[in-house]
Amino acid sequence: MAHFITLEGIEGSGKTTQIALAADFLRRLGYSVVTTREPGGCPIADSIREILLHPDNSALVPRAELLLYAAARAQHVDQVILPALQSGHLVLCDRYTDATLAYQGYGRGLDLELIEQLNALACGDCQPDLTLVLDLPHDIGLARARQRNDMYDQGDEGRFEQEALDFHRRVRYGYLELALKEPQRMRIIPAVGNVQEVAERVSRCLEGFHGRD
Ligand code: TMP
Repeated sequence: MAHFITLEGIEGSGKTTQIALAADFLRRLGYSVVTTREPGGCPIADSIREILLHPDNSALVPRAELLLYAAARAQHVDQVILPALQSGHLVLCDRYTDATLAYQGYGRGLDLELIEQLNALACGDCQPDLTLVLDLPHDIGLARARQRNDMYDQGDEGRFEQEALDFHRRVRYGYLELALKEPQRMRIIPAVGNVQEVAERVSRCLEGFHGRD
């Protein structure tokens, strides 16, 4: 059985830290885990990521942004995700199709049905079995993300952090609405508290998934 798990959340929700801890936890359960991320995950998609996230590219129009995310995803699915699943690995992916619905749909206001069609074109039936949404108030998440960028001087990762607070509020509520529509696949994990507390919530959820095998 394929095991494809995605992690989602607004800026500063702690996905990067939690994905590493989740991978360790799943390995201890006996899975062979491949971690990857979107946009990116392979050289061509990484090049598209640079275009998408560079602060100098603020002129990128929403439709072009949407198409670039879809292009990066198509490449990533064919080159990384599908081969890993077919070889029996568990794939843990930092963001996937729900991010496009939340950011380009709820955030930018592009048509959700159109995005679903593009998602389908990019990934066919390569759908996650489980999606964890790390949720926290958007103002707290954004403050965390800005602090991290200042600390590590990650200027090239900053285009979305520059968006207004209201954009991040729409993205957050987008994720919550998506999770309400698909409660079987999507689980909301409160991301408030320290790293260990959040990791325990994530592990409990993964344990339940493991128990279904
Ligand atoms: P990251 O900061 O989690 O690596 O994600 C990169 C940024 O790309 C983040 O601000 C969310 C955004 N994004 C979209 O807008 N649409 C998408 O489909 C994906 C995968 C990411």
